[in-house]
Amino acid sequence: MTTTRPTDPLRAEHDGLRPHVDRLRDLGDQAVQGGDMMEPLQASVEFLHHHLLVHATAEEAVLYPLVADVLGAPRATATMSEDHARIKVLAAELADVDADDRRSIARVAYGLHTLITLHLEKEEKVYLPLLDASLSHDAVAAMYQRMEDAAATALGHG
Ligand SMILES: [Fe+2]
Ligand SMILES: [Fe+2]
Repeated sequence: MTTTRPTDPLRAEHDGLRPHVDRLRDLGDQAVQGGDMMEPLQASVEFLHHHLLVHATAEEAVLYPLVADVLGAPRATATMSEDHARIKVLAAELADVDADDRRSIARVAYGLHTLITLHLEKEEKVYLPLLDASLSHDAVAAMYQRMEDAAATALGHG
């Protein structure tokens, strides 16, 4: 028997992000080991700004307020918003770094990999089970639709 959870679409979205997050670790390895940095660096910068941070913006607009509501504590998600803020700072650093500055690329890429991996785990292990236990499939589906609208707006397609 397969059971579906209301938040499965969000978990699937995270599964789509994860290979790109793992590429940040590969980017760090490449920076240490040698080889051309330009292409992998640009690919990671593009992923961070056009996928990951757009996802984060949609969460801030829709998911986090809902989690705060379910918990009955408006500041409950503030620590997770701080993760987003730090990811944004490091993503901007990676976008600005000189492709020859391998030391900085390795430092920022490894930092982002660890921070984002932990952040996704926190959402999946704490927030999503909370929503699955508290909300109907329909309520979560409506939330997910609003997240997609917020993401489209953030990308300038809304
Ligand atoms: Fe997030
Ligand atoms: Fe997320």
